Amino acid sequence: LWERRRLLEERVRAFPDFPSPGVLFRDITPLLKDPIAFRTVIDILEHRVRTHYPQIDFIAGLDSRGFLFGPVLAQRLGIGCVLIRKKGKLPGPTESVSYTLEYGQAELEIQSDALEPGEKVILVDDLLATGGTMCAACELMKKLKADILECVVVIELKSLKGAEKLKPFPVYSLLQYD
Ligand code: PRP
Ligand code: HPA
Repeated sequence: LWERRRLLEERVRAFPDFPSPGVLFRDITPLLKDPIAFRTVIDILEHRVRTHYPQIDFIAGLDSRGFLFGPVLAQRLGIGCVLIRKKGKLPGPTESVSYTLEYGQAELEIQSDALEPGEKVILVDDLLATGGTMCAACELMKKLKADILECVVVIELKSLKGAEKLKPFPVYSLLQYD
């Protein structure tokens, strides 16, 4: 499994100055296009959850690129998936948390009945940068009184120190960049 991890590194491209000057954008589209690489991501995450968090109840996927990995992982584990979405997408009563992006504010929401108090959840997104998005997702979990086992991402941009922002919740990443 860990030998196939090297393939993942080869399937992430870097684009300078996207979407704005000075940003080196890590692009996962080649990884999704290669079924072996995509399966390797899910294999590694499945192994992680089965060995460390057998008590898990649900995967929570983050809008939108967390939806590429979260539901696939949930299916592999034989458990359900709940959605954390950008503002205005979910019907019925919702909880919301606003967070700061590089430019301005955004808001994440979850349906108020998505999780029961005490249910054990792993949050899944494609990438951790400043941690603002994942932090807002953790706040939503707190509002529903769900328990966060771990925050899982495919890519962690270490220099932005997102994992520090998320303390005390643990972060697990497959690929790390400065
Ligand atoms: C990207 C990425 C993460 C977030 C990471 O999503 O998919 O969700 O940014 O950045 P942060 O750690 O600084 O919050 P984006 O907001 O671009 O939305 P998208 O997934 O809908 O493209
Ligand atoms: N790549 C993809 N998504 C992102 C990045 C990145 O480098 N930074 C923030 N969101």
